[in-house]
Amino acid sequence: MPPLILDMDPGVDDALALVWSLAWAECDVCAVMTVSGNVDVDLGTSNALRLLALMGRPDIPVYRGERRPLEGEPIRAAHIHGGTGLGEAQLPSSTGTADSGASAALSDRLRSEPDRYSIVAVGPLTNLATAELNDPGVLAKASEVYVMGGAIHVPGNVTPTGEFNLVSDPRAASIVFESNATIRLVPLDVTRKMRVTQAEMKEGLTDCPAEIRDFLMAATSTPMKIGREKYGYDGMYLHDPLTAMLSVEPMWAEWETFHIQIETQGEFTHGQIVVDERSQPVHQGKPIQVAMDIDRRKLLDAFFQPIRSWRGAKK
Ligand code: RIB
Ligand code: CA
Repeated sequence: MPPLILDMDPGVDDALALVWSLAWAECDVCAVMTVSGNVDVDLGTSNALRLLALMGRPDIPVYRGERRPLEGEPIRAAHIHGGTGLGEAQLPSSTGTADSGASAALSDRLRSEPDRYSIVAVGPLTNLATAELNDPGVLAKASEVYVMGGAIHVPGNVTPTGEFNLVSDPRAASIVFESNATIRLVPLDVTRKMRVTQAEMKEGLTDCPAEIRDFLMAATSTPMKIGREKYGYDGMYLHDPLTAMLSVEPMWAEWETFHIQIETQGEFTHGQIVVDERSQPVHQGKPIQVAMDIDRRKLLDAFFQPIRSWRGAKK
């Protein structure tokens, strides 16, 4: 199992992805990078440090990444994740500190041990693109790059065709998808199948250590409230946890290959995934493996099981 470098914008579902990754025995999280996205990168970095302290893993290094997209203005999602980025949760501040320069740290790790690390990117792709711009070809030195982002055959969630992570930094997404990295994409098509209801969250966290259960219930209360009041559905989507889960157990999804390009100029479509499905021998865009289907019940059980049985950091 390759050691994981998590690149995230915590964010509630990012936090759930980190908690699951640290609780799943086969996961080896070796570094966390933060990026401007759901919240500003300083708040995201503080949240990452607090989460690692909560999970008893202050030993895992945190690298603060880019403060803004390569082009344009940052998009925020405080209306979903709350002003703190972690819903209603109140985590104690951490005594840990973060290093800066996530993209340089990523390059150093990938160059020093090629084909060793997998990257799980669940925020805008600014850090990865910056690494590739400063060190061309470096992303191909990752074993695999799992990206939560985009929409293939379903509507977007921030524009009619665009998903938050890719719309937040279309140029970065284009650079990453045009690189020689081995990318596995986890789009809204499949993450929307991983919706957890409030009752399932409560039931799933029974006999979970109180401090973890209380955190997760408080953190998820904000996106769930929004889901109920603004979008009319019960629960929230586990976009980022599903991506982390598939990075260690890819066989938990059905994968299809699509030829993908990222629209970077469109007034209404910037950040959209453009798929070339024409029946002809040559297609535009790199062939990318895309997760398109899961067994929801099985994956929800796999999400809750390690968290429920977690009894402190692995020694
Ligand atoms: O569109 C969902 C993605 O955008 C998730 O990663 C969520 O955390 C936000 O970053
Ligand atoms: Ca995220």
